[in-house]
Amino acid sequence: MRLKLMLLFFTIALFVSGCNQINLPIKKLPFTSEDSGEKNKQVKEEIPPENDPLSLDSIFFNEIKEVGGKNVIQNTTNTLALVNKKYYLPESYVPEDLVRPNVSFSFGEEALEKSLMRKEAADALTKMFTEAKNAGIELYAVSGYRSYNRQQILFEAETNRVGIEKAMQVVAIPGASEHQSGLAMDITSRSINFSLDESYADTIEGKWLAENAHLYGFILRYPKGKESITNYIYEPWHFRYVGVKPAKIIYEQKWTLEEYFTNVKKI
Ligand code: DAL
Ligand code: ZN
Repeated sequence: MRLKLMLLFFTIALFVSGCNQINLPIKKLPFTSEDSGEKNKQVKEEIPPENDPLSLDSIFFNEIKEVGGKNVIQNTTNTLALVNKKYYLPESYVPEDLVRPNVSFSFGEEALEKSLMRKEAADALTKMFTEAKNAGIELYAVSGYRSYNRQQILFEAETNRVGIEKAMQVVAIPGASEHQSGLAMDITSRSINFSLDESYADTIEGKWLAENAHLYGFILRYPKGKESITNYIYEPWHFRYVGVKPAKIIYEQKWTLEEYFTNVKKI
């Protein structure tokens, strides 16, 4: 009996210890080291051109015709028109959709030509001024649309005052001003007596604009340090409507409109 018991005990002990050696098949878990190499392989996806922020439809590039030795823009209603000392608006160009934005003007309620902007830009300006006000920032519009003739008068007045070389750094010659496009607005504040000068950059209003204008589709068109590209002095008061998407890129990259067009791909 004792022998039988010992045999039984021995058999059980052998079975239990044997079980430890049994290798049950291990179910393969996902993401084990075996397949992680495959899974982590970077798949470099091609960005479709329409989703690439640096791709730009050809309709937004200037169409130029040489007239009397000047590069004259033909697609004048393009909201991304590059108007500068190289590319001019036609003398006869007057935007057809000029309206008065619903904002405060430094000259009050008077119905002046300079209160106007193209509809899309005017709506964006109204939104920007309203949201600035909600944030405690009081902005005043000074000068928007300017006809070719009005630009001529301003340019001549400045030339008579400071001479042609200095005048050209501050006031565009007729045809070369963004104000004729109806897409630009000079903006100021009460804190600097509604003036347009460099000190605007140090006001809370000027700082707010520099940091937020792109959210509404505007760019600070003549930035500090980019004078050799824009060919104008630093104008912390001059804002140009280009649309939200381009404005965001220009703001983030710290580009001028000229640099934007050098960097975008035409599609
Ligand atoms: N002050 C800007 C350059 C203009 O006259 O359009
Ligand atoms: Zn201006």
